[in-house]
Amino acid sequence: MAAYDYITHDYDAIVIGAGGSGLRATLGLAEQGLRTACVTKVFPTRSHTVAAQGGIAASLGNMGPDHWQWHMYDTVKGSDWLGDVDAMEYLAREAPKAVYELEHYGVPFSRTEAGKIYQRPFGGHTTEFGEGPPVQRTCAAADRTGHAILHTLYGQSLKEKAEFFIEFFAIDLLMGEDGQCQGVLAWCLEDGSMHVFNAKMTVLATGGYGRAYFSATSAHTCTGDGGGMVARAGLPLQDMEFVQFHPTGIYGAGCLITEGARGEGGYLTNSEGERFMERYAPTYKDLASRDVVSRCMTMEIREGRGVGKDKDHIHLHLNHLPAEALAERLPGISESAKIFSGVDVTKEPIPVLPTVHYNMGGIPTNYWGEVLSPTADDPDRIVPGLMAVGEAGCASVHGANRLGSNSLIDLVVFGRAAAIKAGEVVDRKAAPGKVNVSQVEKALDRFDTLRHAKGDTPTAELRAEMQKTMQDDAAVFRTDETLAQGVEKMYRVAGKMDGIQVSDRSMIWNTDLMETLELTNLMPNALATIVSAEARKESRGAHAHEDYPDRNDETWRKHTLARVNGKVELDYRPVHVNPLIGHNEGGIDLDKIKPKARVY
Ligand code: FUM
Repeated sequence: MAAYDYITHDYDAIVIGAGGSGLRATLGLAEQGLRTACVTKVFPTRSHTVAAQGGIAASLGNMGPDHWQWHMYDTVKGSDWLGDVDAMEYLAREAPKAVYELEHYGVPFSRTEAGKIYQRPFGGHTTEFGEGPPVQRTCAAADRTGHAILHTLYGQSLKEKAEFFIEFFAIDLLMGEDGQCQGVLAWCLEDGSMHVFNAKMTVLATGGYGRAYFSATSAHTCTGDGGGMVARAGLPLQDMEFVQFHPTGIYGAGCLITEGARGEGGYLTNSEGERFMERYAPTYKDLASRDVVSRCMTMEIREGRGVGKDKDHIHLHLNHLPAEALAERLPGISESAKIFSGVDVTKEPIPVLPTVHYNMGGIPTNYWGEVLSPTADDPDRIVPGLMAVGEAGCASVHGANRLGSNSLIDLVVFGRAAAIKAGEVVDRKAAPGKVNVSQVEKALDRFDTLRHAKGDTPTAELRAEMQKTMQDDAAVFRTDETLAQGVEKMYRVAGKMDGIQVSDRSMIWNTDLMETLELTNLMPNALATIVSAEARKESRGAHAHEDYPDRNDETWRKHTLARVNGKVELDYRPVHVNPLIGHNEGGIDLDKIKPKARVY
């Protein structure tokens, strides 16, 4: 048994991660007087939410008519009918309230002439249940919306006396004997000390796992730490085959150019100078949903109409827009385009390519953020003491494809919902639970084994192998052949974890060890993704299977569950098809959201 001293902390609630959802949950918990700690591996305002550019969707109707039911319809259609209807309704109905709360907390939104929150068009957001023109629904703070939200929520959380444990790396969940979560073991990177966070409620807000791929808009810190911990606790991951490619990553660098660029009037062209989206999506054109635009770009390149010397990318034009508008609405991406591709956006098009951006799948939850461990008898069985929010979770509000700007609203709506639910279920007066020491020892043993790993494969080398495999074989388009090959390769790559080499044995800011721990989290996420994708014999949302080009609702309108324990075991659970409120009580007409062909 590994001998490490550890400090034990008792809290009502702990939140792991300090991005938008983690901070919104932290703030909501602290506001209710729960003793709350936020444990985060990066400084809160450096969390990946800081990179969110274009905005946050809510049917405020500041720029023209809008309605929460139109937002719900667009989200259902965007999800390609895989999202849970109750969660999507909750998102669309609560969104305006959540945005006004942000405004009152102090988020510096851009403004209209009349002083209202400025909203821009984004892909897949429409009016009149998809029959009307695009809607301006995405509330923006220029193109630095995530940055503005993160700073505001961090300040508010401090004001509410939430406690922060910054640059602490969560190693594993501590599960109780009855299957409830009792907190986490974490490692303080600054001084090397070990900490048990003993909590009545643990909220995972650890973000996505974009770094399982070679080229991603995600920060290098997006390593699926929550999913990794959940998998090691024997709990399932859901709908992992659905990985979103953002149409406009900067060619070569992968940095994001916001969809807000097309919302403000930008458009894509191929090597013939053609605005090709008009051919594929005659109504919404460049503002079709992301999966659609990414596929069209890929088809243009495959058919020889890519731009550049290798004809391997596409042009995004902003150069026809007034320079003042670019400076006011899109200053951040104007700077990124200059730095990462040398382009002056007022004069030349930006070279772009679909780039991994978001994981629709994650830790299964209900719309309160409570983690689920489904059984045959109970597909909605709750794991006591454990919640997951934001990109780490799968509520499932995005289904097979997320609409742009539905991510930031997901973060705040479900971060807030988790805090509300925790406020109801946590017994503040109860004494702290007894720490399950055998779980702490198991986690310390895993840590110690990695710390002293003497294999012959350096972490960076194995990580690169994993990233290349995922990039090649779980791409925008997939086939039976590429997926089968990818599954075989990924098992081989994951098998090499036993021969990993860590050369730094120290405890203080040991980034070699931290990256190895991150790789142990990326690996089950990657395995679950490719195995779930190989099994799904249809095309839906971001899962574009060339051997099965159609959506097959009869067989496949169901959520995939993947348990990763060496091998990946798959199971399925039904999609929630019922809304929370009936049509007669002001809810949506079910006929409106019946599955149909998804055209833009
Ligand atoms: O394009 C963007 O600004 C990204 C937004 C999102 O992913 O929601």
